[in-house]
Amino acid sequence: MAELVPVEPFDIVIFGATGDLARRKLIPALFHRWCDGQIPENSRIIGVARDELTDAEFHERAAEFGLPDGASEQRRERWAEFIAHVRYIAADIEGESPGWAALKDALDPNEDKIRIFYLALPPSIYGKTCAAIGAHGLNTRGSRVILEKPIGRDYHSARLINEAVGAVFPENSIFRIDHYLGKETVQNLLILRFANMLLEPVWSAGGIDHVQITVAESLGAGTRASYYDRSGALRDMVQNHILQLLCLVAMEPPASLEADAVRAEKLKVLRALRLIKADQAGEAVVRGQYQAGISDGASAPAYAEEVGEESKTETFVAIRADIDNWRWAGVPFYLRTGKRMRARRSEIIIQFKPVPHDIINADAGVMQPNRLVIRLQPDEGVKLMMMTKDPGPGGVRLRYVPLNLSYAETFDQDYPDAYERLLMAVVRGNLGLFMRRDEVEAAWRWTDAVVAAWTDGACPLQFYPAGSDGPDKASLLLSRDGREWYDAERP
Ligand code: BG6
Repeated sequence: MAELVPVEPFDIVIFGATGDLARRKLIPALFHRWCDGQIPENSRIIGVARDELTDAEFHERAAEFGLPDGASEQRRERWAEFIAHVRYIAADIEGESPGWAALKDALDPNEDKIRIFYLALPPSIYGKTCAAIGAHGLNTRGSRVILEKPIGRDYHSARLINEAVGAVFPENSIFRIDHYLGKETVQNLLILRFANMLLEPVWSAGGIDHVQITVAESLGAGTRASYYDRSGALRDMVQNHILQLLCLVAMEPPASLEADAVRAEKLKVLRALRLIKADQAGEAVVRGQYQAGISDGASAPAYAEEVGEESKTETFVAIRADIDNWRWAGVPFYLRTGKRMRARRSEIIIQFKPVPHDIINADAGVMQPNRLVIRLQPDEGVKLMMMTKDPGPGGVRLRYVPLNLSYAETFDQDYPDAYERLLMAVVRGNLGLFMRRDEVEAAWRWTDAVVAAWTDGACPLQFYPAGSDGPDKASLLLSRDGREWYDAERP
């Protein structure tokens, strides 16, 4: 296990504490940090939501995900110690709820102590919640606020949210979470690119043919269908997670890893993304929705069935994105994400160009260009596909083989989940792993253009069976350019 870096004591208030995110991710993340001894003794954890619950009732709800069935006796004891420190306060964001006074009393009055407000709430009430935090005098010198994605549903609403939050908290106390930035393999992207001399000289249109970013999930919308139906794959995954991955692949080397140095470079990429116009959408965008099928070995319902009515929301989207700058001119970035796909698989493929002149006899086999496969999840790893000579007598025979870095084989340790890492990054004040206001707004500008361009006429919804690779038309997006999606299962 890597050495733990201690953090300062902090108070954290989770708004929306009875919701899915808090119960599934945040409380378990804090529990794991607690078990590793990373939460200092005089820290406070307070859940806030509208429901009138006692501490004990809240603890019981939290245990559903915090303490899974079959947890060891030792784990149960740790959970009991942890949860005894977690308080619950019922308060309404609107109106003069007595909970606000109780919350003030429960927090450390020390103005400089780190105080975190986590808004695990719908973005439409971020502004109101921050205003209430301000109005009840809870915003101290040491305060920071965490906003979950999505920040709004378009550029306009994102601006309004950013304005409202910014009226209470200065920009350097606002931590906009994109949990993909907390993933181990995503953080490794910067190191891979900027701590190795090997890649950077060919990391451009000179050496790279195209890039593919796939985030495929085997799960469906399920219990989140009512939220998801108002969002869809583009807003839920592309505007944030996938564009952040694209930025990390495409950005120029920052002068340092200092937060604003990195964020400024990412912003330049977002601003250089070519806006997709209505007359190009038919060729650049495919949107789909899953129908019933077999997923993870069991029969899965159609999306419309989960939503309870016919819906035009996309559960799959594939887009050809272009970055109009010197480094990436003519290098397409193919982006793809979907629910109820064949398997859960997130990866970035960097497809290099062929060698300029082939000197190997055609009988020796097929010459293939190098390919870098960065597997984000599951089975985290990095694989560089190289041409080599098949060993043995009888002349030259070509073999395409991987230089393989498997995390499981190389690093004999467990590492914290993205939320654990990001929560600790907020305590440390490390803004580099969070999105700045201008980044979020630039990402929405590009996303809004896609939404405006993909009318039913240009991009009709394509249906695909659950458990498949998405709509057939998604292959056309690449085959039209003489390329194909990389398929890890194919030899
Ligand atoms: C969330 C989306 O941001 O990311 C979900 O809202 C999606 O729809 C999830 O399932 C995927 O995260 P991960 O870490 O499981 O890849």
